[in-house]
Amino acid sequence: MSEAIRYERVGDIAVLAADNPPVNALGLAVRQGLQAGIERAESEGAKAVLIYGTGRTYFAGADIREFGKPPQEPGLPDLCNRIESSPLIVVSALHGTALGGGLEVALSSHYRIAVPSAKVGLPEVHLGILPGAGGTQRLPRVAGVEAALDMITTGRHVGAGEALKLGVLDRVVDGDPRDIGLAYVQELLDSGAPRRAVGELPAPAPVDFDSVYDAVLKKGRGQQSPATAVRSVQAACEAATFQDGIIRERELFMDLMNSDQRLGLIHAFFSERAVSKLPELKGVEPRPLASISVIGGGTMGAGIATAALLAGLNVTLLEMNDAAAAAAKGRIEGNLQGALKRGKISQAQFDTLTNQSLTMATDYAALSDVDLVVEAVFEDMGVKKQVFTKLDEVCKPGAILASNTSYLDVDEIAACTSRPQDVIGLHFFSPAHVMKLLEVVVAEKTALDVVATGFALGKLLKKISVRAGVCDGFIGNRILATYRTAADHMVLDGASPFQIDKALTGFGFAMGPYAVSDLAGLDIGWAVRKRKRAEGMDPRARDSSYADKLCEGGNFGQKTGKGYYVYEAGKRGGTPNPEVMQLIEAERAAKGITPRDFSDEEIVRKYMAAMVNEAAKVVGEGIARRPLDVDMTLLFGYGFPRYRGGPLKWADIVGLSDLLDDIKTYAQDDAYFWQPAPLLEQLVADGRSFDDLNKETA
Ligand code: 3HC
Ligand code: NAI
Repeated sequence: MSEAIRYERVGDIAVLAADNPPVNALGLAVRQGLQAGIERAESEGAKAVLIYGTGRTYFAGADIREFGKPPQEPGLPDLCNRIESSPLIVVSALHGTALGGGLEVALSSHYRIAVPSAKVGLPEVHLGILPGAGGTQRLPRVAGVEAALDMITTGRHVGAGEALKLGVLDRVVDGDPRDIGLAYVQELLDSGAPRRAVGELPAPAPVDFDSVYDAVLKKGRGQQSPATAVRSVQAACEAATFQDGIIRERELFMDLMNSDQRLGLIHAFFSERAVSKLPELKGVEPRPLASISVIGGGTMGAGIATAALLAGLNVTLLEMNDAAAAAAKGRIEGNLQGALKRGKISQAQFDTLTNQSLTMATDYAALSDVDLVVEAVFEDMGVKKQVFTKLDEVCKPGAILASNTSYLDVDEIAACTSRPQDVIGLHFFSPAHVMKLLEVVVAEKTALDVVATGFALGKLLKKISVRAGVCDGFIGNRILATYRTAADHMVLDGASPFQIDKALTGFGFAMGPYAVSDLAGLDIGWAVRKRKRAEGMDPRARDSSYADKLCEGGNFGQKTGKGYYVYEAGKRGGTPNPEVMQLIEAERAAKGITPRDFSDEEIVRKYMAAMVNEAAKVVGEGIARRPLDVDMTLLFGYGFPRYRGGPLKWADIVGLSDLLDDIKTYAQDDAYFWQPAPLLEQLVADGRSFDDLNKETA
């Protein structure tokens, strides 16, 4: 008997207890143990089998680490069929999260009981695959096609109460899974309940699968797995037999298993978990984090304060004067109203958060006892230095002084205090109470326990925290500045901003770069360009001024109703602003550029090459620890399509050597912009990939 499954006899009942921490994933040992357990129960003359999980959960799914490796018997689909076909009564008792293959094992059992806190789901589509152990065939038979399509295409976790109503569970009882399971099995035996196999139920009634397929594909912005899963559910209704449906499910499952999207999504799954595990923080205790302060309650400060309040922290928000404080409070209340409307908080919680947890201030004395301060004032070094000098005077020893700066030098900010070891960058993204990314910017003198506290804050706020080093724009904005520039060059050379946006949404980005600029406010990029020009730009750099002209006309994007696009009140999205093309054409003429055609494919290739090349520089210089840190930054902060894994995963998939060749070709026209990253050249020379680098760096 495998150690991952413990076998025990309780009277007529054979009990199979899974013990494969942390989540009882259905790896080889577990599958072997379950199969052997069923066989032993049958040969020993037991009347029923109870399956449950020890530790924190029932089976949370197939073992994802086995994906892509040669299959080992018994496979999960065969195991599920074996469980279902047992002549004994098989019951599963669920707690924790019965997900993917876990729910499929449960659906192969003849009866299912769960504790009230249990959650069930088929989240395979998020990994680029579909339920491949009978889930798309059995779930529609117990819950109906509509509910099955919803669960399978969204991958959402369904609470025990809802699962009971859907027929996925037969009973919900509070208690220890072994105890409630044993009592239930005994009751079934006593009442002479029949063996009940889902696979023997009649095929469910079909729906209009073609229109569901189209709608799901559109919603997924190019993600294949949810749409393919629709076809698999279709087979549950239309295949001649249950077994034929299982065969169809397997074919579709294997297509997805062999896809690039599966590689991208699995990379995202593991990287998301690996990104905040820093070896140097092992054993380092974070500092206390009971109360925080935010300086400046504009767009970012209000969002950061909202996120902190929702996470249960007390927040003191400091503004310049009473009027600014009132405006800031209004912004925070507006954000919390949104949370109230979406049912995330109750009216009572709203009242407590706004009246008790939040304190508005205009005097620095109010900050004397806070554990951590996040500065979110104007992006101006002079103003930031004034604030940090003041914080240095009033904050208690050991308080952490953080800046939310987007681009400025955190070392320079730290140097204006007497305690640079307590200074760090905490770069949130807009809107800060919604966006998942947090760049933890470690300056030269930042103490390790301050870094640990940055990550602890990120975890508390449910962010994906990425360690970044100090440079202009850290990881994300530095790379953004480069691929955005590549887009601007293509505009000068003949592409339109609208074509570029379309090509990139076609690639899977939530929005194109010009629509994003309109959303963020064109004044932000304008300020950066002015700063860079004032600092002195390299004469070889191609600059453009049409966007400045747009700003000079008072057009800052969505907030002024006009930018690259024109926005009509009450309408979603905008329509191309014709003035933009006039400005661009005038600049091309002034520069003597004859515009040429770009294909969407060329646009994507060039944009991505610029992104990858800069990302490789960011990793090579140690600004990001590993390629996966860049991938997670782009995924969680910049709308990069998750199913492509991130820019460096994408680069590995398309091939680094080809990409480097392209960069060298582009360099023939603009050698200054297209300087190949030394790390990229090195990897190509060594025949290694970014993923190899991820594996080599802890
Ligand atoms: N296989 C292998 N490892 C897994 C795993 C799985 N299915 N699920 C989780 N893990 C690992 C995580 O990588 C993590 O490892 P680490 O500690 O080394 O980083 C550890 O288990 C704990 O996971 P979390 O940090 O995510 O723990 P949480 O408590 O936050 O979440 C969870 C638990 C909800 C179960 C979450 O881990 C999760 O969603 N897991 C994936 C579930 C899933 O997608 N199942 C379907 C798998 S595909 C399948 O079943 C195919 C079948 O249809 C044929
Ligand atoms: P904003 O202009 O909306 O808000 C700034 C706020 O700071 C204003 O409410 C202002 O009254 C207040 N303020 C200015 N000086 C102050 C002082 N001395 N003391 C107290 N309050 C003061 O600016 P926004 O967009 O919120 O940006 C703030 C910071 O966050 C900047 O450093 C910016 O680069 C950074 N950031 C901005 C992002 C964005 O998308 N807007 C994203 C990530 C970071």
